[in-house]
Amino acid sequence: MEAAAVPLLTPYKMGDFELSHRVVLAPLTRQRSYGNVPQPHAAVYYSQRATKGGFMITEATGVSDTAQGYTDTPGIWTAEQVAAWRPIVDAVHAKGAVFFCQLWHVGRVSTTAFQPGGAAPISSTDRGIPPQLSFDGHVEEFGKPRRLETHEIPAIVDDFRKAARNAIDAGFDGVEIHGANGYIIEQFLKDSANDRDDEYGGSLENRCRFALEVVRAVAGEVGAGRVGVRLSPFTDYMDCHDSDPAALAGYLVGELSAIGGLLYCHMIEPRLAIVEGRRVIPHRLRPFREALKGTFIASGGYDREEGNKVVEEGYTDLVSFGRLFLANPDLPKRFEVLDPPLNKYDRTTFYTSDPVVGYTDYPFLAADVQAA
Ligand SMILES: Cc1cc2nc3c(=O)[nH]c(=O)nc-3n(C[C@H](O)[C@H](O)[C@H](O)COP(=O)(O)O)c2cc1C
Repeated sequence: MEAAAVPLLTPYKMGDFELSHRVVLAPLTRQRSYGNVPQPHAAVYYSQRATKGGFMITEATGVSDTAQGYTDTPGIWTAEQVAAWRPIVDAVHAKGAVFFCQLWHVGRVSTTAFQPGGAAPISSTDRGIPPQLSFDGHVEEFGKPRRLETHEIPAIVDDFRKAARNAIDAGFDGVEIHGANGYIIEQFLKDSANDRDDEYGGSLENRCRFALEVVRAVAGEVGAGRVGVRLSPFTDYMDCHDSDPAALAGYLVGELSAIGGLLYCHMIEPRLAIVEGRRVIPHRLRPFREALKGTFIASGGYDREEGNKVVEEGYTDLVSFGRLFLANPDLPKRFEVLDPPLNKYDRTTFYTSDPVVGYTDYPFLAADVQAA
């Protein structure tokens, strides 16, 4: 297949950004930002994955000192962190890519060890997360959270706003608000985790209030055209699930569209189905893509074939790739060929702290394969 005939490799205009292809780097936590400060090796890692006109999203990046729940994840609330991001952003821009920072607050996915003064993690609720089996088989334990008082919520919204300003100051082209995967925004959104009886709990409208306040505050600060939102209405990660995810997603997409000019919505597919040994993407996001005013990015389980299919069908505008891009720094290049050779990702080094191993040492396609 010629590159021009590969739907994933066709150009797309996302708001003010001219993208040369539709292969997006999904946000990927790598836990190599020692002491929550991004490191020079991240400039190597991200610039390896940068292409002219490509779109990339950083790993989840903490908005404040209460936002953390994992070792060595980056932040963007201090001047030192902002300064440390700058050369990383510059390295990506030198390659001509568009780079957004994913803004994150873990909420109750934390322990007192991560919190200032050893305090309890904050959340929509004071119900903790039951121990979770991690991908490598160990059991993760979380602290009992403290339910935020109604009057404390505006300060958390403001942390997102300030972090968005810091991201722009660091040189990022925009920000993605992490409203997915069981973190603080989802703890408010989903009825398994939101047991509040104030104006931030109960009805769908109330549960979505915090998320929408964050989006409006961030859009007000940096401009809606520089803001995307990531959502995972159908997943149940970190004990966050909703009794009516389609209604939740439908309401949110309507409200996000009503804000006007918001750049994109990045939605995670429901869990994959395996049919006759082949992974099948359920494609349940179509109604939300149709209702959204703005760019739609689909994520979760995509490969070259499925990605091409959904772009061709108009099911989505862009597709983000997590594990495949983690292991194949030149993924868009590899997608030029029909059955591209792909490096296999190594789960055991996803979250290890080595600045090279499993991080910047995945090989690029050999020149002879590219030429063939
Ligand atoms: C190592 C790893 C780290 C991840 N970190 C984040 C993150 O920081 N923020 C986020 O929204 N999703 C995160 N995810 C989810 C991915 O962005 C993506 O949704 C998921 O990997 C499914 O896409 P894939 O099948 O293309 O890998 C992570 C996934 C992996 C494997």
